[in-house]
Amino acid sequence: MFNEIDFSKIDTGITPPQDDTERQYYYMAKLAEMVALRERELGRRITYCLQTFGCQMNEKQSEVVAGIMDEIGFKRQETEDADVVIYNTCTVRENANLKVYGRLGKLHSLKKSNPDMKIALFGCMMQEKQVVDKIQKDYPFVNLVFGTHNIFKFAELFYEMENLDSQLIDIWEGTDKIVEELPTERNYSFKSGVNIMFGCNNFCSYCIVPYVRGRERSREPEAIVKEIEALVADGVTEVMLLGQNVNSYGKTLKDPVTFAQLLEKVEQIEGLKRIRFMTSHPKDISDELIDVMAASKHICHALHLPVQHGSNRILQSMNRRYTREKYLERVEAIRAKVPDISLTTDLIVGYPGETEEEFEETCSLVERVGYDSAFTFIYSPRVGTRAADMPDQIPESVSSRRIQKLIALQKEITHKRYAKYIGQVHNVLVEEASRRDENQMAGKNEYNITVNFPGDKSLVGQIVKVKITSAGESTLRGERVD
Ligand code: SAH
Ligand code: SF4
Ligand code: F3S
Repeated sequence: MFNEIDFSKIDTGITPPQDDTERQYYYMAKLAEMVALRERELGRRITYCLQTFGCQMNEKQSEVVAGIMDEIGFKRQETEDADVVIYNTCTVRENANLKVYGRLGKLHSLKKSNPDMKIALFGCMMQEKQVVDKIQKDYPFVNLVFGTHNIFKFAELFYEMENLDSQLIDIWEGTDKIVEELPTERNYSFKSGVNIMFGCNNFCSYCIVPYVRGRERSREPEAIVKEIEALVADGVTEVMLLGQNVNSYGKTLKDPVTFAQLLEKVEQIEGLKRIRFMTSHPKDISDELIDVMAASKHICHALHLPVQHGSNRILQSMNRRYTREKYLERVEAIRAKVPDISLTTDLIVGYPGETEEEFEETCSLVERVGYDSAFTFIYSPRVGTRAADMPDQIPESVSSRRIQKLIALQKEITHKRYAKYIGQVHNVLVEEASRRDENQMAGKNEYNITVNFPGDKSLVGQIVKVKITSAGESTLRGERVD
């Protein structure tokens, strides 16, 4: 547990404090008393199940919610037959929403057999008005709904919900608040995501993120460094700096700082071995950043650089603010200074009006760059975004055919790229034993590719040298050489 709280120092008899962090500690202490009492009554632990949909930023925010639940005294479990079920939702594509509705249907029957069960929903999907209306109307058994801007208030909301019979909904339109130092229960002891900024100002025309995450806000560099130092003291050796567009970090701070300057500060942190970051917007990849990457000892040579599309007409319609040529120029600039850089990307097919020729331009760009891997998505219209109202929406049958072709193409490229790694010795941060065979370990090399090798559990959390002997579809295999 990170940022543990001493409840004996908190007076729950007084009125709640005004300071954001203190106030939440106060509500955690109150809930801890309540949970202890209920556990004595029932003669068993009170359990919760927390599931996260979506990106690493959601993962990170779920760690805060888990930290608060653990601190209060709830016991976590994997399955949904728990006393409290919490979903952190995503709405970037329609199928993310459909998954949540599907799960809610199942929770309804579980709740019939345990009427005291509490259900809480939060995250990006809850920032959409039509979603909240639907939950009020069709899912009245959900107890608590909050969004992305008031997660720090979780303990307070949970306390309020416990004292209420009706559904509690608290959605904020936006915020400029960044509340520091809440408890966190990390998914891994040796690596951690670190938010450096929240929100997005780019308004790519297909994307809902700016609407549900609000305007871009950067954390102060001192707060970021302090958090990482504390993580390192707690056993972390790898951090992933997180933001929707890390390259525009620091622009809105009182004393502006560039992302490259932040990286230089993070580089100085003693004991930190690996630095990763995502996501980089191609329009903002500066020469300064490339130079810092090239000179760094700790920044991994892996760059996720979502291109989205290969056609200039579509890139312009998407409001990406770079051309195919500019993107390729940036790729070359990076490769010139960091020749072993591993590039990955995100691609959208079936954007409104995409012709067969334009789709082929995506394919040719993918071939030209030679990504190690790519996430491919079928365009999904999102309510309120500009692209959703564009004419010529592409039928599913066409998009499916195109995505299959693109996946097959990237598979071949991945195969070729991975073949080049055979014979090389990679530093692998060991993450876990394979589920099928506990003598097979899995970890990540600097390029963020999973490497499997024979070993034992005592290696988890260490960086070991592995000689790559073969390549699979999405993983590498090797043998230890140190
Ligand atoms: N901030 C990041 C991406 C965040 S969303 C960036 O700009 O790169 C992750 C990915 O989801 C995007 O890169 C995009 O490829 C995909 N995506 C976003 N909105 C989408 C939509 N409406 N339909 C399909 N894919 C989408
Ligand atoms: Fe969405 Fe574009 Fe912002 Fe990424 S940069 S989150 S794709 S609007
Ligand atoms: Fe999804 Fe929100 Fe992330 S919409 S992708 S969880 S920012």
